Amino acid sequence: MQNLIASSLKYENSTLSVLDQYLLPHQQVWHECHTVETMKELIISLKVRGAPLIGLGASLLIAYLAEQGMTRDALATAINELEATRPTAVNLMHCMAALRQALKQTDYVASIVATAEQLFIEDIELCERMATRGAELINSGDNILTHCNTGALATAGIGTALGVIYKAQQVHGNVHVWVDETRPLLQGGRLTAFELERWQIPYTLICDNMAASLMAAGKVDKIVVGADRIAANGDFANKVGTYNLAVLAHFHNIPFYVVAPVTTLDLKTAQGSDIEIEQRNPQEVRGVSGSFGEALWTPTNANVYNPAFDVTPAKLVTGWVLDTGVYNQSQVENGVLLKLK
Ligand code: MRU
Repeated sequence: MQNLIASSLKYENSTLSVLDQYLLPHQQVWHECHTVETMKELIISLKVRGAPLIGLGASLLIAYLAEQGMTRDALATAINELEATRPTAVNLMHCMAALRQALKQTDYVASIVATAEQLFIEDIELCERMATRGAELINSGDNILTHCNTGALATAGIGTALGVIYKAQQVHGNVHVWVDETRPLLQGGRLTAFELERWQIPYTLICDNMAASLMAAGKVDKIVVGADRIAANGDFANKVGTYNLAVLAHFHNIPFYVVAPVTTLDLKTAQGSDIEIEQRNPQEVRGVSGSFGEALWTPTNANVYNPAFDVTPAKLVTGWVLDTGVYNQSQVENGVLLKLK
């Protein structure tokens, strides 16, 4: 396989490595990954995270194992096991489906390698196209609110929603970002803040529960978020807390955009309520952990509800920014998404 380098995932000289997103920003630790068990752990623990990146990490590992001589049967099992690591982000299923097709070919090793390379390179291009389209919606001077991390760390390219912000800053300048810290795992506070600093884009970090008062004060011009799965009717799943923002945006009349590649569209899922939502370990809500150590602040066995994602109904979305174009409510109601794949 050729060398493939992204911000948090690289295949270089026959070695697959990932940047540990759980330890960022204070520790920048790369892990080598040679086995299915390791990749499963990396994905489940969110060291490898973000809808596109999960699919690409799993794909590069399958290609590496194919090149190492893993049998067809073992590769099929590995694909199934990796696909089961996280249930909500459909990009993983999209990638694993493409690899299953490749596995059927006579020269399956070459076919798997070519597929993995293509998925990686395609993601870079998809990010670029979304960013270009999305940047046209942003004006110089805008204060943009975003949730979770949707940047270069989460993709092979410049990101989805954060890629739009990055491009808008390049094209128009004078953009300021309100960064939701994104409880419970702090992808905003840890990762989006890290990326914006690296890109020198002005930002201000807020706790998730501060967004309402900011909007009421007229300090948010636009909201851009990513997606883990978009259903055929335009409802979409994204990091828990996204739905809150959509309701608030509707109340305050603030444009609310979702940014995602066509690989995040799941036309087999009719509506958002059909999307499986990943439930995670209660410990994540009982405290925090990361490069700064661990803290538990609740009673030891406090009862916890911890869905990783929530579903935003299409009726709250101003625009769907895909690599193929920006679509509005009436286009989506008339089934435009159904024609995209
Ligand atoms: O649990 P995570 O950190 O993998 O969740 C990530 C998100 O919800 C992102 O918003 C989504 O994957 C889009 S990333 C380009």
